Amino acid sequence: MTGTPAVRTPPVSIAPMMEKTDRHYRYFIRRITRSTLLYTEMVSAAAIIHGDRDHLLAFDESEHPVALQLGGDDPRELASALRIAEAYGYDEYNLNVGCPSDRVQNGSFGACLMARPGRVRDLIAAMRAETSKPVTVKHRIGIDGRESYEELLDFVDTVSCAGPTRFTVHARIAILSGLSPKENRTVPPLRYDDVYRLKRERPDLQIEINGHIETLVQVDEHLSRVDGVMIGRAAYDNPWLFADVDARYYGAESGSRSRREVLEAMIPYIERWRAAGWPARNIVRHMLGLFAFQPGTRRFKQALSGREINEDPVGVIRRAMSQVRPEVLDS
Ligand SMILES: Cc1cc2nc3c(=O)[nH]c(=O)nc-3n(C[C@H](O)[C@H](O)[C@H](O)COP(=O)(O)O)c2cc1C
Repeated sequence: MTGTPAVRTPPVSIAPMMEKTDRHYRYFIRRITRSTLLYTEMVSAAAIIHGDRDHLLAFDESEHPVALQLGGDDPRELASALRIAEAYGYDEYNLNVGCPSDRVQNGSFGACLMARPGRVRDLIAAMRAETSKPVTVKHRIGIDGRESYEELLDFVDTVSCAGPTRFTVHARIAILSGLSPKENRTVPPLRYDDVYRLKRERPDLQIEINGHIETLVQVDEHLSRVDGVMIGRAAYDNPWLFADVDARYYGAESGSRSRREVLEAMIPYIERWRAAGWPARNIVRHMLGLFAFQPGTRRFKQALSGREINEDPVGVIRRAMSQVRPEVLDS
């Protein structure tokens, strides 16, 4: 196997989230942060091979850098899916070894692959053979029955033989029998120390940490121990958290100077999609958290969730903006 491509781990990324990090969310969050690495929702290799490719894979130029997360357990299928996806210009590819849902387990992929480190190594090798772009893996600390740090290390050592660019470790185990995906994001305790230890004992590997990280102060703390931090729910529920990320971690200018600017930038985008027959609600739903923790957030959300959103999105957005104090809109 050839060596791992030397790619610096982005200090901050936004996690793949089904039903959330679709192209419209990514377009929206790009108005706030230009530099953060974004991920797609997980797309199964079989869906890419057999399904509507443009619907599953197309994205806007402004979404770069964006990583496509793939789900699958068959090396040939993953290789074919990746070959198809290459035409769309993704910046990275990621393999899902963390999802605990029954649907994914029935397909024998996601978190249950943690029990088969050799298989994951072969999947990464098959993906790497198709692209010169970084190929990364997102996984858990462990699963029920394979919960120890030593088993995590065994997983990482085995998979690293295939040279993935980065390991993103969700710092909880997944309990595959008896817990829903939602419970699997809260019930198993966080084990950040295992991720730090992994970085200490394997300093040459690029390690990104994930799990319940909600503030930039927490990001700073993690970055003193690992190479990168992935944020999931907080990026969706409180997107303005990312307003300082470009300046703070990338030495770059932010996407927008204010939340008013973000909303103004979304209006022509929503109009464009609406003209193509896309309901405005499917885009606007990603914007509800823009004023999280600010006065007026509840009224803003209520206004945006109104029934007329599909008929008159511009009017609804302007009315929602009027629910927020100008100093908050412009700060
Ligand atoms: C609604 C939702 C959907 C998710 N979908 C995926 C997914 O498609 N692929 C994946 O690897 N993880 C998925 N996750 C897990 C997140 O990527 C992340 O690992 C998890 O939420 C922990 O990070 P957080 O505490 O910052 O949210 C999902 C999480 C949520 C909340």
